[in-house]
Amino acid sequence: MLKRARELVRRGQSEAALTLARAHAQTAGDPASRLALGRVLLLANQPAAAARVFETLAAETPDLPGVADALAAAWRRDARYAEAVALAAAAADPGPQLLYEAAMSLAALGEAEPALAAFDRGLGMEPTLAAAWFGAAGPALEVGGFAAAIDRLQRALACPGAAGRYWAPLWALKRLSGDAAGAETVFAAHLAGHPRRRPLADSLAALLPAAIPAARVFGLSAPLLRHALTAAAVPGLVIEFGVRRGTSIAVLAAAAVQEVHGFDSFEGLPEAWGSAPQGVLTTGRCLPAVAGNVRLHAGWFADTVAPVLAAHPGPLRLANIDSDLYSSAKTVLDALGPRLVPGSVLVFDEMIGNRHWRDHEWKAWHEHAAATGRRWEAFAVGPFTKQVAIRVVE
Ligand SMILES: C[S@@+](CC[C@H](N)C(=O)[O-])C[C@H]1O[C@@H](n2cnc3c(N)ncnc32)[C@H](O)[C@@H]1O
Repeated sequence: MLKRARELVRRGQSEAALTLARAHAQTAGDPASRLALGRVLLLANQPAAAARVFETLAAETPDLPGVADALAAAWRRDARYAEAVALAAAAADPGPQLLYEAAMSLAALGEAEPALAAFDRGLGMEPTLAAAWFGAAGPALEVGGFAAAIDRLQRALACPGAAGRYWAPLWALKRLSGDAAGAETVFAAHLAGHPRRRPLADSLAALLPAAIPAARVFGLSAPLLRHALTAAAVPGLVIEFGVRRGTSIAVLAAAAVQEVHGFDSFEGLPEAWGSAPQGVLTTGRCLPAVAGNVRLHAGWFADTVAPVLAAHPGPLRLANIDSDLYSSAKTVLDALGPRLVPGSVLVFDEMIGNRHWRDHEWKAWHEHAAATGRRWEAFAVGPFTKQVAIRVVE
């Protein structure tokens, strides 16, 4: 069943895959078929629903093989990182998959060294887990710099069945560390003839002419956000567009030492984004617990942003635009336009690296800059996280 459901999801028929998995779980009724249903929900990009299935299973049959791994995966995909980490920490004998989920969650929380330690513990048990070598490259970049991250990527690529998409980050790190010849070799051998592997290389190459020579390169989201905030010297508003469960706004709130505004529908994306369907990333209208200096504004940007800006005059210090879609970024940029001054910083969370990079944040920003004649420069980039931080120059 799982194989057939996976094939249906791959062909874009998620509803058919879910119908199949639900029917199977109902007929068989055993824990294994419910585990399979949860896995199909995860494949269909419904991590919250998958988590509910796995939570029940874990409570009823905690010794079911794979249930802890599956629950940690669902929590991580649902941005419940701390819970995934705690699950692994509480396990008497966590296996490589559970350690992988914990490591990825620690990386998402910006905990580079603990993430590396968890990746390495899992890799000690399963040394050919390509995804773990790859996942470790971002934290390794934070802890050990370019050479350490490149080493992780090369180890990932040496694993049997390594994904072709690992080549572009290797190209990126070589290019960004000044090894132009090494980057060229990787490009010619592994990217030039493989358009599907290339979005990161193509988008980064398009960005670099706008980047300052001293642009910083980050392996994780949190340190890039902290750096962007430090670089945002203009006194003014700090805002996040796209809060979800509050991971990045917690970083901004801790570093900003001022009020931080967070906007989100908490209903997920209003439109499909690439292969992600409308409604993905929803928290079911549940607002996250946030620090005392955060003000949350629940609703669609088109309804919420203008009144809040009207009540808070003055320039923009920093906006973290993490709402994925062109339409959302355009709404935000149209509203923020008059508040941008030289020195204002915008962090785009998904500007590079995706298959559809030209159609969303990239497009909204370039259209805005062209229409307003604003000059800008990129001063930080995250080849793994896809973030780009830019500063308005004029
Ligand atoms: C990628 S998530 C944000 C992730 C978050 N920054 C974090 O640290 O986990 C994108 C969020 O943008 C929100 N969003 C996207 N477009 C929106 C819009 N037009 N109005 C309101 N919320 C929107 C979605 O509800 C979703 O929670």
